[in-house]
Formats: sequence, C-alpha cells, structure tokens
Amino acid sequence: MEQTQCTPGAGGARVPTKLSLSVLGLVLLLAAVAMAQSPPAGDAALGTRSYDDYETPGFCGTSCHVDIYRQWTQAMMSQCYTHHWDEIEYFKLAVPHAEKDEKVAGVKAGCNGCHAPISFLAGDVPPPHPAENSRANESVSCEVCHTVTGFAGDTPYNFNWITSPGNIKYGPRENLASPEHETAKSAFLSTAEFCGTCHNEKSPYDVWVKSTHLEWSEGPYAKEGVRCHDCHMTYAPGQTAEMGAHYADAAQHLFHGAHDPGKVRGTIELRIHPDIIEAEPGETVKFTLALFNQKTGHKFPSGSVEDRIVWAHVEATDAAGGVHHLKVNPKGFDGEQYTIGSEDLAYQDMGIALGQPDFPGVARDAVPPGDRIFRMPYFDPQGRMTIQQWNTASLGVDYRLGPRETKMETYTFNLPDNLPPGPLAVTATLNYRRLVKSVGDFLHVPEEETEIIVVNTHSTIVNILP
Ligand code: HEC
Ligand code: HEC
Ligand code: HEC
Ligand code: HEC
Repeated sequence: MEQTQCTPGAGGARVPTKLSLSVLGLVLLLAAVAMAQSPPAGDAALGTRSYDDYETPGFCGTSCHVDIYRQWTQAMMSQCYTHHWDEIEYFKLAVPHAEKDEKVAGVKAGCNGCHAPISFLAGDVPPPHPAENSRANESVSCEVCHTVTGFAGDTPYNFNWITSPGNIKYGPRENLASPEHETAKSAFLSTAEFCGTCHNEKSPYDVWVKSTHLEWSEGPYAKEGVRCHDCHMTYAPGQTAEMGAHYADAAQHLFHGAHDPGKVRGTIELRIHPDIIEAEPGETVKFTLALFNQKTGHKFPSGSVEDRIVWAHVEATDAAGGVHHLKVNPKGFDGEQYTIGSEDLAYQDMGIALGQPDFPGVARDAVPPGDRIFRMPYFDPQGRMTIQQWNTASLGVDYRLGPRETKMETYTFNLPDNLPPGPLAVTATLNYRRLVKSVGDFLHVPEEETEIIVVNTHSTIVNILP
C-alpha cells in the first residue's frame, strides 16, 4: 500500500482566508455529524453491507488457516444456520410467527443477526433454506468475528457488535505480517463481552432470554479473570497459519459446548448418602443428594435454557432386584412446580405459527414425574410455558446450578413392609437433554437432539435387616 505523505505547512503560519474558514467550518460540522452517528450495530445494521464485503470461510481456510478452519467446521459455530433444529425452529416456528404477530415481526430478520450474520448484514430476509446452499450456510464464519472492532452501548446483547470489513483482519496479536491481508490487534476480541454480543439476548418483550455472558459476569470466574475463551477456545503450542510463526499459545477454535457430550459429562459432581445405614422394613430413610457445579463458568444449563432440560433421577434397587423410584422432597419455594417433573402439557404457543389456535400443547417435561428439574421456565404473554424465546414475556423461578454452586436435595423413602433383606442400592443420576423430548418428537427434530446425556451418577447402600 502507498503511504500518503503528510507534509506540515511549510513557510510558517498562514493567514486563513474566508474560503478556508468556511471549509474548516464544514469539516468540523461533518466531523460532528459522523461522531453523533456511531457505526450501525444490532438491528440498525440490517442491510447495511453486501455479501461481497466478506470473504468465505473456504477462502480463509483452504491454504492458509487450515487447522483453524477444520476445527471451526467441527464446531456448532459453522452450523448455526444449517443445523437441523435451527432450520426447523426458524422456518417452521419463527418465520410464520413473525408474519402473523406484529410484536415479534423483527425476529424474521433478527434470528440471523446471530445465526447467519452476513446474510443479516446483506439484508437477505429470510435467507434461502440450507438445502439451497447459499452464503447464509456460512453461519458464524471467520469474517463475522475477525471484522469486529467493538460493540455499541454499554451491555453486549442482540448482535450489537460493530463490523468493519475490509483488508484489515482483526486478531489477538500486534505487528503481524500476512501475505494475504493486513492485520490489526482488536483487544475486544479477547474479551468475554465480545462473546456476549451473541450470547446475551433480549426478547421483543424486553426479557433476558439468553444471558450466558451476564451469568458469567456475576459469577466467580469473571472475578478471577477466567474468560469464555479459557474454557471454549483453549490455547496450545502451534501455528495459526500454514506459513506463519509458532506460538506457545495459539488460540484453538474448538467451541466445545452442548453438542459435545464430553463437555457436558462431569459438569456436575454428585454424592448421595442416607441418614441411617441399617433399617428394617416399615422404617423411613432419608437420602441427601449434593450436586456441585464444578465445570461451567455460567449457569448449567445456560444459553438456550428454554430448550434444555436437566433432571435428577433417584432409584432404589432392593436385594431381590425390585426397583423403587424416589421422588424429591419439595422445598416449598415460589414456582417450584416447574422444577418437579409432572404430566402437565405446555408449549401451546407453537400453535400460532402452525395455524392451530386450539393446539393443546405437548408434555411439559417428558421426564419421570417427581424428579427434580434444574431449569428456569420461560412464559409466553398468556402465562404458558414456551420454548419460543422470542415469544417470552416473563421468566419463572431460576432453579439452575450456578458456577461453583452446590444444591442439596432430599428424598424420603418409607421402606415397604415386604422389602427383602439385604443391600438396598440407591443411585442418583443427573440427565441432560438439549431439547425437551416431547417438543423434538412433535416437530420431527432428529433424535440426536433429544438423546439423554448422563452428566453424572453416584450410588450408596443401606442394609435392610430381616
Ligand atoms: C470455567 C469454564 C467455563 C467458562 C469460563 C465458560 N464456560 Fe461455557 N461451558 C463450560 C462447560 C463445562 C460447558 C458444558 C456444560 C453446559 O452445557 O453448560 C459450557 C457450555 C456452554 C454453552 C452451551 C450451554 C448450553 O447449555 O446449551 C455455551 C453457549 C457457552 N458455554 C458459552 C460460554 C460463554 C459465552 C462464556 C463466557 C461469557 C463461557 N461459556 C464461559 C465451561 C465454561
Ligand atoms: C466466534 C468467533 C470466531 C470465529 C467464527 C472465528 N474466530 Fe478466529 N479467533 C476468535 C477469537 C476471539 C480469537 C482470539 C482469541 C484470544 O484472544 O485469545 C481468534 C483468533 C484467531 C487467530 C489468531 C490465533 C492466535 O493465537 O494468534 C486466527 C489466525 C484466526 N482466529 C483465524 C480464524 C479463521 C481462519 C476462522 C474461520 C475458519 C476463524 N478464526 C473463526 C474468534 C473467532
Ligand atoms: C456472531 C454471533 C456469535 C459470537 C460473536 C459468538 N457466538 Fe458462540 N454461538 C453463536 C450461535 C448462533 C451459536 C449456536 C449454534 C447452534 O445453532 O447451536 C453459538 C454456539 C456456541 C457454543 C455452543 C456450541 C455447542 O456445542 O452447542 C459455544 C461453546 C460458543 N458459542 C462459544 C462462544 C465463545 C467462547 C465466543 C466468544 C469467543 C462466542 N461463542 C462468540 C453465535 C456467536
Ligand atoms: C442474540 C443472538 C441470538 C439471536 C437473536 C437468536 N439466537 Fe438462537 N442461539 C444463539 C446462541 C448463542 C445459541 C447457543 C446457545 C446454547 O448453546 O445454549 C443459540 C441457539 C439456538 C438454537 C438451539 C440450537 C441447538 O441445536 O441446540 C436454536 C434452535 C436457535 N438458537 C434458534 C433461533 C431462532 C429461531 C431465533 C430467532 C427467533 C434465534 N435463535 C435468535 C444466539 C441467538
């Protein structure tokens, strides 16, 4: 690139003429206007760019950033627009709902502010279906993140990042030489607030329906300076480009999350113990279960809380192999009924998009009645539980497991009179599903989205006397 020479006015001070004064005035005025209009971000950025302003991930990844590209293709970040449940929820529920209800009309474009940002910026609403293989399929691509220079306002949420596409790619390091493009350091990319621009979301009813970054910022990890990157984009020795330098701390684009069973497993550690270790049939034994969140930097579950379901199942197996289900002892807090498995129906508001105003709903939990559920319910404007975060007008009790929090649950077992003597094994299992099974089945979401991931188990023994 050619540098324009900047020569300060030779020949000393000049007396300003009338013309140059008015030019100066105009320049000052334009500068003031430019400062008042901050670059468009969030909803205001719709249609302000074109697809051609951004390179494709294939371009970045095929010959230069090969390893990072391969990692990204394995992460959900590359499938935000194409993944089956995203496609089903957007095209079957969100788009038709937006076309029927003025209050939520904005989500037809807005979902893609986070899921297919380049299509949103190009004003492509709705983008073609994933099968048509358009540029929307790039999802959250290299260029989405590596053109970001900051965010608008004081709280990151609803895709309020500021994009500055062009030949300069923003990254974590200074003074790099790249044969393909210029680079500049963006300290913002290395902050949790950057992730928060998409990982915090407010519904059209002004309710926080996604708050992973806010949960983190109130928790212990933020205070210790442990950022999202430290658990989701970990560092290892290596190159970041084929011809590039070796670094001791190359940022890995892993983004392990809910779609990596290994990330979810072991998140919560369990211990269950009885109050007495020997008992006779007819007696009462109380079991206490401790659940410790040792792994997440935010609550568990986080993010798509309306979809996820985490529940503890406790079973006793007697010496003759008979199985007894133990129900959790209620604690009596407000809204607790949403945290204990029941056979109620919910999610009636799916009927709006589906054109079935009298839709009776599907099973609220699809887990054994009486099991403790760790969740925060979302309610539609009619007060019914919803999985449509854009149709969320209020939130219920927050009974999720916070970072490093321990929750205690108790289970009272009135031993049946005919309980056989010998060891009674009591096992607690914490289960996780990315999507409530009844909803997944109803909408024909492939079963992998509703499969059970066992987070952890623990067992104890009580000796039953003859
Ligand atoms: C101390 C480590 C740690 C930190 C810090 C951390 N996470 Fe996580 N995160 C995890 C673990 C473990 C999981 C898997 C369990 C789960 O799904 O919540 C997870 C899950 C997730 C999920 C999937 C959640 C779900 O239930 O669908 C998202 C999204 C996520 N993290 C984003 C973030 C963001 C954004 C930040 C920073 C604001 C962050 N994480 C900070 C450990 C961490
Ligand atoms: C969701 C946002 C996001 C996406 C998508 C993304 N990156 Fe990054 N990338 C980051 C962040 C954040 C960092 C810096 C991490 C830090 O500060 O520790 C980074 C760092 C890098 C670095 C420098 C690594 C280092 O350690 O110096 C390169 C090179 C890079 N990314 C290339 C790519 C390419 C190529 C793609 C697409 C295949 C891509 N990125 C996709 C967020 C992203
Ligand atoms: C441009 C928006 C955007 C930005 C910026 C962004 N994400 Fe995401 N992220 C998403 C979307 C959308 C998904 C949902 C993918 C899907 O469809 O399941 C997601 C999913 C995830 C997941 C869950 C993956 C899984 O297996 O389910 C993790 C973990 C995650 N992001 C971490 C981060 C971290 C860490 C940062 C900051 C370095 C970040 N994200 C920045 C949009 C973004
Ligand atoms: C502010 C950014 C943002 C907006 C706006 C947004 N999403 Fe998301 N979405 C995310 C992030 C981040 C995740 C990942 C959360 C997690 O992993 O728990 C996600 C997850 C999802 C998932 C779950 C994916 C899975 O496989 O588990 C679906 C489905 C989804 N979004 C659909 C939509 C629809 C439909 C809209 C519009 C009504 C929308 N999203 C609007 C950021 C956003």
